[in-house]
Amino acid sequence: MGQTITILGLESSCDDTAAAVVRAGSGAGPETGAEILSSVVEGQVALHAGFGGVVPEIAARAHAERLDLCTEAALAAAGIGLDAIDAVAVTAGPGLIGGVLSGVMFAKGLAAGAALPLIGVNHLAGHALTPRLTDGVAFPYLMLLVSGGHCQFLLVRGADDFTRLGGTIDDAPGEAFDKTAKLLGLPQPGGPAVEAEARTGDPARFAFPRPLLDRAGCDLSFSGLKTALLRARDAVAAPQGGLTRADRADLCAGFQAAVRDVLVEKSRRALALYLALGPADPVFAVAGGVAANASLRAALTDLATGLGVRFLAPPLRLCTDNAAMIAWAGVERFRMGHRDGMDLAARPRWPLDRRSPALNGSGRKGPKS
Ligand code: KG4
Ligand code: ZN
Repeated sequence: MGQTITILGLESSCDDTAAAVVRAGSGAGPETGAEILSSVVEGQVALHAGFGGVVPEIAARAHAERLDLCTEAALAAAGIGLDAIDAVAVTAGPGLIGGVLSGVMFAKGLAAGAALPLIGVNHLAGHALTPRLTDGVAFPYLMLLVSGGHCQFLLVRGADDFTRLGGTIDDAPGEAFDKTAKLLGLPQPGGPAVEAEARTGDPARFAFPRPLLDRAGCDLSFSGLKTALLRARDAVAAPQGGLTRADRADLCAGFQAAVRDVLVEKSRRALALYLALGPADPVFAVAGGVAANASLRAALTDLATGLGVRFLAPPLRLCTDNAAMIAWAGVERFRMGHRDGMDLAARPRWPLDRRSPALNGSGRKGPKS
């Protein structure tokens, strides 16, 4: 490889404090090769456990306390010092404003102290550009972001060129999984627990709605499903004084099938819009914690394969919140000549697609776009 650039990435927009070092060729495009030298993620689950959700003030304080230690750990794991870093990339939004501010202020201090360029990164761009870091995917590709805080289809045409084809108008699917688990007395995070129960359940016993399938386009809605689940649970539990193991499994299977069906049908529509562009090597990529769901993954793989599209799911540690994706987005922006000044703002909302109207809804993890 010719000349390389090495970027330190920082992430603190929700409940993970993360720092990572990514090295890549200085030429344009992922084909010049990228390497994750280190990726440190410190979750805050224990800090928020007693509160039933992420407490923004606690999150912000923990980020402020841990960012320097995470950075030190990431540099040590990469085996380099700050002198080997070419720029500091930091999540400047969207997210919980206290956490984003902690990250942006820390990054400014670090960049100013070490005389390094500063690059503000959109957290969603970090997720959306990950397939280029992991698999060297070329533009344009289709991305489905499905996590506890986000749900949107993005047409990715360039490192700074995103078109949102649709997204949730209320809850994110991960949120719906977590609430379902709560309603059924299952542990958090709800996704893996609901998926495990669903394995032995009958998805046809309860008729859950498939929200917004009757509406054209790629928008989604998940809050009604949670209400439907609550009703179904109470209808079964009231006469028999509780739920049996089989009831719980059937409720989970029915709920999971509804989420999957809706995501598959909306993906079909998004893929049609994407394929109309005539991409040479069509790719459909997913990111976010919900992409870990085996039933959803299998259905999306079938859908894509049937249409002659390569389906890509980056490794889970790079699908969920991390700083390697922020460092990589920093690489892309650095190559485009983008630099930010000390006036870089922390933004609670920051839509990737400046042309589409803003989404409604602000989930438990903060604003979604
Ligand atoms: O991307 P992520 O780690 O964090 C953000 O939300 O930003 O995603 C976490 C979400 C949680 O809501 C969790 O319940 C969900 O992803 N999740 C799953 C599965 N594993 C994690 N949902 C469905 N099935 C799974 N296997
Ligand atoms: Zn995220």
